[in-house]
Order: sequence, then structure tokens, then C-alpha cells
Amino acid sequence: MRHPLSTPFRPQARFVGARARMGAIAMAAGLMLMSGTSQAAEVEVLHYWTSGGEAKSAQVLKEMLEKKGDTWKDFAVAGGGGENAMTALKTRVISGNPPAAAQIKGPAIQEWGDEGVLVSVDDVAKREGWDKLLPTQISSIMKYKGQYVAAPVNVHRVNWLWINADALKKVNAQPPVTWDDFFKTAEALQKAGITPVAIGGQSWQDAETFETVALGVGGAAFYKKAFVQLDEATLKGPTMVKALATFKKIKQYTDKGQTGRDWNMATGMVITGQAAMQFMGDWAKGEFTVANKAPDKDYLCVPGPGSQNAYTFNVDSFAFFKVKNPDVEKGQKDLASLLLSPEFQEIFNLNKGSIPVRQGMDLSKFDACAQKSEADFKNAQAKGTLVPSWAHDMVIKPAVEGAFYDVIGHYWNDDSETAQQAADKLAAASKTN
Ligand code: BGC
Repeated sequence: MRHPLSTPFRPQARFVGARARMGAIAMAAGLMLMSGTSQAAEVEVLHYWTSGGEAKSAQVLKEMLEKKGDTWKDFAVAGGGGENAMTALKTRVISGNPPAAAQIKGPAIQEWGDEGVLVSVDDVAKREGWDKLLPTQISSIMKYKGQYVAAPVNVHRVNWLWINADALKKVNAQPPVTWDDFFKTAEALQKAGITPVAIGGQSWQDAETFETVALGVGGAAFYKKAFVQLDEATLKGPTMVKALATFKKIKQYTDKGQTGRDWNMATGMVITGQAAMQFMGDWAKGEFTVANKAPDKDYLCVPGPGSQNAYTFNVDSFAFFKVKNPDVEKGQKDLASLLLSPEFQEIFNLNKGSIPVRQGMDLSKFDACAQKSEADFKNAQAKGTLVPSWAHDMVIKPAVEGAFYDVIGHYWNDDSETAQQAADKLAAASKTN
């Protein structure tokens, strides 16, 4: 999908009024120069962090930016995974009025770069040595034609399973390591009257769950062949069929009320014990934290069955847009610098559930899940089992990702479709332009 930006930008008629008004503006400008004050930059930031844990993290960002003398203009668009936010962004860019910064990531950064609407913050990056602070897999995503146009804030791990500790105790089970363990435990939970798996029926949540299942069933090499290289034979081959069948088997352990449910509502079911487990990236931890729940006591975080040695990464980032008001540039640079600062990286990630993207940080204030995330990230990086999350925009272009969402969502909902049919559709969808 090309961004629908064919409409050229039309410079807006700035000076509409009479000469007297022009005079007043000139006088005001003169006064400002004389007093040496420059206007505080108003930085409009588009994001989709609206759940409890997310909003707390966004608030940290707002407060720290305001400490630099800039004004935060909130452009929050609700909707997990950011689909609604991306629609809102397109509308604003088409009308020639983009926000100063927007939460976008992965290949979409390149697509916006191709549209000529992004602005470089490379001077900040050079001054602060971003190339040395970031793993190359991540810094390369942030650059357009060799210049930084975006700044990353975190590393989220996607292949997690969140478990209510009491629920697991009730059925005398250990956290599942294999898919067989998982389904045995799910069966026992169901018999005990607890919904085994909480899920929200939205296509990105189906896609994310499937992504974790596929990694666990097929391993990192299979995952890369299928979802990074988009190899057709792998997309419709026997391992994919097995992954799809395993994914569908989970459905009988989910509840009927899932249609349209937000991810954080599903997390809420695990927090209260109404449900026992949820497949979700570690933004879910932000919700447990807001609810004052502690890891290893109230809840457990374990890698999705079969995916212990691998790590699906999802990096949030902000890209900077060309805006008409030159004052905003200062704010954009302040924001860029803030995002990678150690202070921000620590407090933001403590709230968000992720780990710092800035390398070499001290993680002693972070909990057991974050420490595990960090250790597993390094281990996966060394073993070549670090994989980008396709369901969270990290690797395939938006058009193919959208087509995959449709295939997976349809397969989850339509019980008459076979795993092989869905696999064939995935292979066909990989050709979407
Ligand atoms: C983002 C997270 C966000 C989650 C749910 C993901 O795509 O990377 O930052 O918390 O969606 O909205």
C-alpha cells in the first residue's frame, strides 16, 4: 500500500489581513528579537499509548519534554497496535499539516521517507553518538538514506505468555514449556472453570498470537524464511500448516466475549484471575504494574511454548515530520535528544514494560521479567534467533502485513477453513503490492 500522498502540499495563505495587521506582526516580532526571547516550541506528538501502563509512559515523556521548555501537544489516538493512529497520521500528512513527531516504526519509516515528508535529526544523533548506543539492526531502521529521521525508545519482546500465578496453582501446573504442556494445562483450567486464554478479537491480536505460535512451532530459522524472506514454499509448507493448526486449537480455550475486545481488557482478565493466560508483548506488564501486581508472585512471564531460545523484537520509535513552523525544529531536536537519554530510557521503560534500547544501561531497578528479556535478547542475538515481529510492523511492508492480518483473522473466525487453505492464502498474500 503506497501512502495516499499524491496530493501536493499547498502552502497556506499566511498573510490574509490588511497592512495594519502586518505592521502589528512585524512590531511583535521586533519586540521579541529585542528582548531575546524565542517562543517555546509546541511539539505535537502522535501516539497510541492510551491504556493504563501506556498512558503513564506517555506522561513521563510529556513531563520530561516540558522540562526542556517545550510544550507538548497531545495527539493520542486510541487503538492497540496503532492501526487507527496510522490512519489519522495519513489524513494529517495529506492535508499538509503533519504532527511534529509520530509513533511509527519499521519499514513504514522508509515509506514515509520516500514521500519526502520526514526531517533529519542526524545532527543530534552525531552529537550524541547514536551509532554507538544502538544495535545496528535497530539503528538501520531509524535512518533514511543514511540520516536518522527517527529515534527508538525501547525494545519490547513479543513472544511472551503471561500467567496468573494463583490460577496455575489451582490446577497444580507448572508454566508450560512445550505445546503439549500448554494444552494439558489449558484443559485442566477449563475443567476448573477458569477461562484458559484471554484474547481480544482484533486482527492484530490474532496476528500477534499466531506469530508467537509460529515461532514456537517452527523455530527461528523457519520464522525468518517465512516472515522475513516471505519464501512462498515455506509460507504454504507443512510447518506453517502445523503452526496454523496449533494456533486454531487455542480457540477452544478462549471465551465467547472476545470480539472487538481491547488487549488491555484481556490483560485485565488475567490480572483478576478471570482468565489464566495471555499471549502478548510486554506492554502487558505495564498493566500488571499499574495494578500493583508483582512478577513471580502474582503473575509469571514465560516465553511462548517452544520459543524459549528465540526473541521476537518490537521497537517503538518516533519519526520526525517536516512542519511549516520553523520554531518547532528546536522542539523536535529536544525530543530526539530526550528519547535516547539514560534518564528517559530508564523511567519510561520501567513504566512501559519494555527494556531500554540504549545499550550499556544499568538494569538494576528493573524487575525479573525485564532482566530475563535483556538476557534472552543478548542470547538470541548471539545465536541468530533474534527475529523481528511482523505483526508489530517491524519487518514486512504495511500492504503485506495488512493482507496477512486478514488471512489470520479470517482463519481464526471461520471454522470451516482448513490450515492448508489458510497457508495457501498466506503465500498468495505475500505478493500484495
Ligand atoms: C506497540 C506498543 C503498544 C502496543 C499496544 C505495539 O504495536 O509497539 O508500544 O503498547 O502496540 O498498543
